[in-house]
Amino acid sequence: MKVIVTGGTGYIGSHTIVDLLEHNFEVICIDNLSRSNKYALEGIEKITNKKPTFYNIDLCDRNATLKVLQEHKDAVGIIHFAALKSVGESVEKPLMYYANNIDSLLNVLIGMKSFSIPNFVFSSSCSVYGNADELPVTENTPIKNAESPYAHTKQIGEDIIRNFATVNPIQQHILLRYFNPVGAHPSALIGEIPIEKPNNLVPYITQTAIGKLDELTVFGNDYNTRDGSCVRDYIHVCDIANAHTLALQFLIDKKNKTNCEVFNLGTGNGVSVLEAIAAFEKVSNKKLNYTIGPRRAGDVVAVYADNTRAQQALNWNCKYNIEDAMLSAWNWENKMQELKL
Ligand code: UD1
Repeated sequence: MKVIVTGGTGYIGSHTIVDLLEHNFEVICIDNLSRSNKYALEGIEKITNKKPTFYNIDLCDRNATLKVLQEHKDAVGIIHFAALKSVGESVEKPLMYYANNIDSLLNVLIGMKSFSIPNFVFSSSCSVYGNADELPVTENTPIKNAESPYAHTKQIGEDIIRNFATVNPIQQHILLRYFNPVGAHPSALIGEIPIEKPNNLVPYITQTAIGKLDELTVFGNDYNTRDGSCVRDYIHVCDIANAHTLALQFLIDKKNKTNCEVFNLGTGNGVSVLEAIAAFEKVSNKKLNYTIGPRRAGDVVAVYADNTRAQQALNWNCKYNIEDAMLSAWNWENKMQELKL
């Protein structure tokens, strides 16, 4: 069975392609390489001995997008990862975020409808919950105001898909709300390749430990949490990847009750920034150079998942914990140095 993966050379996309290939799907990978590295395709091939078909296409280009989707209209589904994802950058450049994340989604949906591709899986984010009133958040936790334009593009994306699903009963949709994906494939052959200075915590930690960066700043220790630093649900990227294969299979097997279902993808455990640093120090045997700094604009205080629905419906379970994730991220950082990435 053929599946189209947009943003397939990116961090979560590349790990998902490995999982799909290992479950015998044929993969069509689309990416414009604006925030990813073509090395991901080599890494995927080294792990799986299989090669996805690759198209270097900007999904904001409607004609180019429709052309590829038409060529592969026999696909069983589309997994749509391609998007800009830096919270801080989205605050600086909101129009770029709205234009890129919304235009590309619309073009993919227009193609999916035009060529009757039956199933669609969307990369959403826990950031849609904003500063939630209750923790852990379930899929029914009320959606608050988005804390950043990035988060808003995910809320709008979800709304677009929900509205589209209402009038398109033939097509099936799943919205996957990721918490904080971290770590790398245990082979250390693929992982996150930050294009510039990283924004996310874990690549910042590993780059500091290896000496690419001087020190890590912990953004605030005066929050109302157990140690004052923000709390997140860090989930191994391979667990996230596997959930996509299961979600797609769930739709193929027609197990969904509605044609637009939502699942939280988190471990269910809240971990503070200081605890994440401690987990890294333990598995790497390295002391991390960090200081406490001011809060970062756009950060929510604490968020972690109730993942019961994904466990029950998709038969999905997390295989890895925060220490496994930190160790794999550290191994990958060392591998990138060797590969000069
Ligand atoms: C956010 C979104 C998430 C999205 C991700 C994409 C929320 C709740 N989550 O994750 O859905 O997929 O962006 O990039 O909005 N930190 C430091 N120092 C650093 C970097 C980070 O202390 O140098 C802290 C942050 O303040 C935060 C935690 O580490 O508390 C995680 O930050 P980060 O990795 O950037 O992810 P989020 O902003 O949580």
